[in-house]
Amino acid sequence: HPHPIDSPAVLAWYDRHARDLPWRVSPQDRRDGVRPDPYRVWLSEVMLQQTTVAAVKAYFLRFTSLWPTVANLAAAPLDAVLREWAGLGYYARARNLHACAQAVVGDHGGVFPDTAAGLQTLPGIGAYTSAAIAAICFDERVAVLDGNLDRVLARYYALDVPVREAKDELRGALQLAVPVRAGDFAQAMMDLGATICAPRAAMCLVCPLHDGCEARAEGEPTRYPIKPVK
Ligand code: ADE
Repeated sequence: HPHPIDSPAVLAWYDRHARDLPWRVSPQDRRDGVRPDPYRVWLSEVMLQQTTVAAVKAYFLRFTSLWPTVANLAAAPLDAVLREWAGLGYYARARNLHACAQAVVGDHGGVFPDTAAGLQTLPGIGAYTSAAIAAICFDERVAVLDGNLDRVLARYYALDVPVREAKDELRGALQLAVPVRAGDFAQAMMDLGATICAPRAAMCLVCPLHDGCEARAEGEPTRYPIKPVK
């Protein structure tokens, strides 16, 4: 068995250092019972698929001011949605976005399904996006694993093979660590990958996973993940 990921340490770090993002509910507000809006979380996750947080913010604010609810977005003309998407790239994502909004309204009464399995039946929502929404909005205890998490975990376990050869092991280790605060944990791991365990620099001295991290112990964390040889 892989050694455990210290989720209490990750949550304690997140309580102090969570990024303030326009689609996010802070850990303090979540404790007070505020729930994230699945529409806003879904929209942010789709926008973030191939675009950075910094670039997404302005688009997210523009979309949510034009279309505050999924019903508003579903009722918008597709060409207006495509026009607002301009600059984000990958226009298939914008078409899927509109189709998904229409499916939520047409097939689900304007309410997003509240499980990863239910969310995955919607157009354009795959394994990652469904897990992210279910964890963040409904605290479903699912592993939310994206490319940034692959890097964090490859370092944590000093993974000596390319990530694609160990996907199941990484997912299993992450799944075992998911705490009751599944949404905060998912977002904490995303923030950790973005700000502490970044691709070219690892700020191990301030990392909540410092103690268990095998790559940190070896002394050269950015050696991981190992690149596949083509
Ligand atoms: N990248 C993808 N999803 C994210 C989220 N919910 N918060 C921060 N960065 C992300």
